Amino acid sequence: MKRLCAFFLALMLSLAGCGSQAPETHPDLILRYADNQPPGYPTTQAAAYFAELVKTRTNGRIEVRVYDSGRLGSENSVFEQLQFGGVDFTRISSAALAEYYTQVEVLLLPYLYTDSEHMWRVLDGEIGQSILDGVSEAGAVGLCWFDAGARSFYTRQKVTGLADLQNLTIRVQESRYMSRLVEALGARTVQIAYGDVYSALQTAAIDGAENNWSSYESMGHYEAAPYYLLDEHSRIPEMVVMSPKSLEKVKDLDPAFEEVLRSCAQETGEYERELWAKREADSEEKARKLGCIVTELSDQELLNFQEAVKPIYDGYPEEIRALIRRIREA
Ligand code: GCU
Repeated sequence: MKRLCAFFLALMLSLAGCGSQAPETHPDLILRYADNQPPGYPTTQAAAYFAELVKTRTNGRIEVRVYDSGRLGSENSVFEQLQFGGVDFTRISSAALAEYYTQVEVLLLPYLYTDSEHMWRVLDGEIGQSILDGVSEAGAVGLCWFDAGARSFYTRQKVTGLADLQNLTIRVQESRYMSRLVEALGARTVQIAYGDVYSALQTAAIDGAENNWSSYESMGHYEAAPYYLLDEHSRIPEMVVMSPKSLEKVKDLDPAFEEVLRSCAQETGEYERELWAKREADSEEKARKLGCIVTELSDQELLNFQEAVKPIYDGYPEEIRALIRRIREA
């Protein structure tokens, strides 16, 4: 009887709008944000942060729903959906983006930067901004840059230098640029979507792959490929992009919201950088503790790698080579 009274009391309060919970606000616009990384990864944590900022700063009128782990499709297919408005936002590796927007290649060339600070000086400067803006040519709106560290090779069998890489079958992203790069280093390449790399390594369909510490660790690739050759052949930044169609919807809601979104993205980019630095160090530590065998390059071996990728630089016209010189000097 007591329970019944409590139930009716709660029902009456909620009908009268006096419940203890604040009434749910309904967003005017729900936007979908895709990422192929798992929950807890720096980029997906940053996506959640972005969603929270957008919700607060639009007074709940825009809700961003994050779909992690490639739930909306592979990186390339998500970008293609975004071009016509099927997905509203995505975070994309510049190597995948280069398939649609070749100008971004200048930012991911092998051994281009001396370190991460150098890369950030370029991305935060005029060159980074003009490449972010230029992605409109590929049917996307560039919002901000994310860090993704440097990529190195990892293999099922021990590899200690360039000579051992020759003719191995290495998985690369669905990116002609990445195939070119890895083939310049003497390996054969096979393009496989990120979510399928783990099983390709496990079944020995490939000899190895290449990625940053955080991906190597979080995707469990180290289980089948415990040899990590720390050659750091490329720093590949990532971009958060939006569909132009979705941006129109946002502006229709309130023209001021475009600026709101852009500044939320800018702050999110800064937040991701911090998350990245921590996760990269933690992942490296974890992989080493788990027994992965890490080989560092001698100065001579590093020169061998740099020499091998020179034809990639030579393949660009003078105008691009001048831009590359500016990036190097930044
Ligand atoms: C990194 C990057 C992903 C990309 C992946 C890959 O993990 O963050 O966006 O898909 O590399 O190698 O495919």
